[in-house]
Amino acid sequence: MNDQPILLLTGDEILTLFQNREMEIMDAVAGAALVHKQGDAALPHSSFVRFPERERDRIIALPGYLGGSFNTAGIKWIASFPENVDRGMERASAVLILNSMENGRPKAIMESSIISARRTAASAAIAGDILRDKKPARTIGLIGCGPINFEVLRFLQARQPDIDTLVLYDLDIARARQFSEKCMERTPHLKTIFAEGHEKVLASGDITVFSTTAGVPWLGDISACPDDAVILHVSLRDLTPEVILKADNIVDDPDHVLKANTSLHLLEQQTGNRNFIRGTLADLLDASQPPRVSGKIPIFSPFGMGLLDLALGELALKLAREKEIGQEIKGFFPPSWLERQK
Ligand SMILES: NC(=O)c1ccc[n+]([C@@H]2O[C@H](COP(=O)([O-])OP(=O)(O)OC[C@H]3O[C@@H](n4cnc5c(N)ncnc54)[C@H](O)[C@@H]3O)[C@@H](O)[C@H]2O)c1
Repeated sequence: MNDQPILLLTGDEILTLFQNREMEIMDAVAGAALVHKQGDAALPHSSFVRFPERERDRIIALPGYLGGSFNTAGIKWIASFPENVDRGMERASAVLILNSMENGRPKAIMESSIISARRTAASAAIAGDILRDKKPARTIGLIGCGPINFEVLRFLQARQPDIDTLVLYDLDIARARQFSEKCMERTPHLKTIFAEGHEKVLASGDITVFSTTAGVPWLGDISACPDDAVILHVSLRDLTPEVILKADNIVDDPDHVLKANTSLHLLEQQTGNRNFIRGTLADLLDASQPPRVSGKIPIFSPFGMGLLDLALGELALKLAREKEIGQEIKGFFPPSWLERQK
């Protein structure tokens, strides 16, 4: 009993396991959102660890239990150090621990920045696709040219095969150029336009995605958007509360997104209510809410539920076992206290 091994999966192994599995990943993410809506889940609030006089750095713990066919529990521990990018490293690093629902013991430990990015991107792409209300998207506006938007684009492309143009904007033009080169490797026929400001992106994007590292809202006017545009507000702190108030707001979980000084949290503080939220991704998935309400630009703001990491962690674990990928750590747990000689 005490020698039950733990499976260790590296980032590179996760990349191998997830290759060309966008549809399965989106199915897992949608399934997890629906199980959460049905109430067969536990999603405690994320714990943010911050450091004195280092406003931008943080490490977040996202624990949870996900029932239904997933039947799993665990925790993601994810660090965000934005200055890593200047050091030539990724902003985020993460580890996911999955626990057995039979005996509570950790059963897998895996690199999780890829799982985190892909669950984020998959949920954004599902929302973007539904909120388009069957209108194909051809031009995608991307504000912030880091790995999160790169992943969002991957999943949008899986759902919207007509995408042919990207309009990119980043405060750092070098990052926009690097992003474009990376996109060309994946999809050589894509046309890229480098915008000099956000206005051009908003005016061109059938879907515009914000994945910046802005800490406080900086954009107070989205009137340049076409009437049928969709905004995916992945970075949560770009749009001013006034913009959010006038929009049609879809979230992943209202209790979670109204925290941590997101734009929606700031608006709730101003208005004293959350009536500006129309529904959740799960409401769109089970059609209890229509894709769009007339006259308003839909904005999807996902706080990022740890349950989605658990769902993708389980998918990675299942695939790893099938393909015999990963390293089994034997003898991790100590002998029973009755047998200990030390
Ligand atoms: N909601 C979620 O579930 C979720 C999950 C994962 C990451 N995120 C968020 O996504 C964001 C992006 O992550 P990443 O790993 O790609 O970050 P990154 O640091 O690698 O890239 C962010 C880019 O945004 C640019 N930028 C910053 N402010 C900008 C502005 N005002 N206008 C234009 N560009 C701007 C930066 O120059 C940088 O190139 C982060 O804020 C992260 O917290 C959200």
